[in-house]
Amino acid sequence: MSPTSTSSDVLVIGGGIIGLVTAWRAAQRGFATAVVDPEPGGGAAQVAAGMLAAVTELHYGEQTLLGLNLASARRYPDFAAELTELTGQDLGYRRCGTLAVALDADDRAHLRELHALQQQSGLESQWLSGRECRRLEPMLAPGVRGGLRVDGDHQIDPRRLAGALVAACERAGVVFHRVWAERLTVVRDRVTGVVLADGTEPAAGQVVLAGGSLSGRLAGVPQDVLPPVRPVKGQVLRLTMPQRHGPFLSRTVRAVVRGSHVYLVPRASGELVVGATSEELGWDTTVTAGGVYELLRDAHELVPGITELPLTETRAGLRPGSPDNAPLLGPTGLEGLLLATGHYRNGVLLTPVTGDAMAHVLATGELPEEARPFSPKRFSPATALTEQPA
Ligand code: GLY
Repeated sequence: MSPTSTSSDVLVIGGGIIGLVTAWRAAQRGFATAVVDPEPGGGAAQVAAGMLAAVTELHYGEQTLLGLNLASARRYPDFAAELTELTGQDLGYRRCGTLAVALDADDRAHLRELHALQQQSGLESQWLSGRECRRLEPMLAPGVRGGLRVDGDHQIDPRRLAGALVAACERAGVVFHRVWAERLTVVRDRVTGVVLADGTEPAAGQVVLAGGSLSGRLAGVPQDVLPPVRPVKGQVLRLTMPQRHGPFLSRTVRAVVRGSHVYLVPRASGELVVGATSEELGWDTTVTAGGVYELLRDAHELVPGITELPLTETRAGLRPGSPDNAPLLGPTGLEGLLLATGHYRNGVLLTPVTGDAMAHVLATGELPEEARPFSPKRFSPATALTEQPA
């Protein structure tokens, strides 16, 4: 018997939330779809806090990405409702808003600049005094000097999202190959499928590489289409909030403390997620004493009462960083190979729009308008010489 045991229209390499949403939407379009991953629903979503922070995570030079982030944020209510209705699973989607605060004069200047950029970009955010911030969130430190209230930046529980996407894929008839992909197979300049660690060789009409930070390491992918994705480590803590006298925090609270981002994301379940470090250390996922110390130190400056809470989990994950911090979506220069990777800090936020864009391009060969600036071809040597990056 030939090792080519199965065949599908679309084969997705990587069963994190980006691969799963791509597979689910592809299957809904009628494609026979398969996912390759030893542990579908694992990956960075098991670590991520799940902030849907298009406005509070706005950065200079990322205006194009902002458009995609906002498009995805707008889809979240319907996306979450559809997944919940289909699977019966609560995704922890909370329209709770975010408060970004400043602890000293430097932080306040930084936040004022962010506020100006948000206003220039037509985004809604409101400047509050320190007293107004504490009125909203009484657990904040007395030293908070001011803040930005962003009522449109919400949260979801990425672990629940991942679980629901696995269930949605199963219901849609997606086949799971629960092993590692070892090598892409290419015949006469066209992708034909993949060789798996168990020796089987499923064939496919189109292959989507959605391997998160691992996407740049798959053997058999020609060098000129290999995605320029690198791992960016993030350490994250989970604590448990008391459920006694009203909420410990009622919305996401975040700040830049001595140049490091810290955020506290309170879930309805009582979980409080505190993140995250940002470290360029290759494939290392060690939780370090220094990382935990810095997160707790900075979080404690914002919300002193945090030291009373049980610390229930420490974990590190790898963000798939790209050269311009934006994702790579759609066809590559190799026929039959598409990418859905490089989502960096915005993987959870960009899940709905990525699913829609990938299903569209798989069906039509063209990215939808909003996703066109994110074609992987912006990094191909020929394009880079003639065009501006996104
Ligand atoms: N978006 C949050 C993080 O990447 O840490």
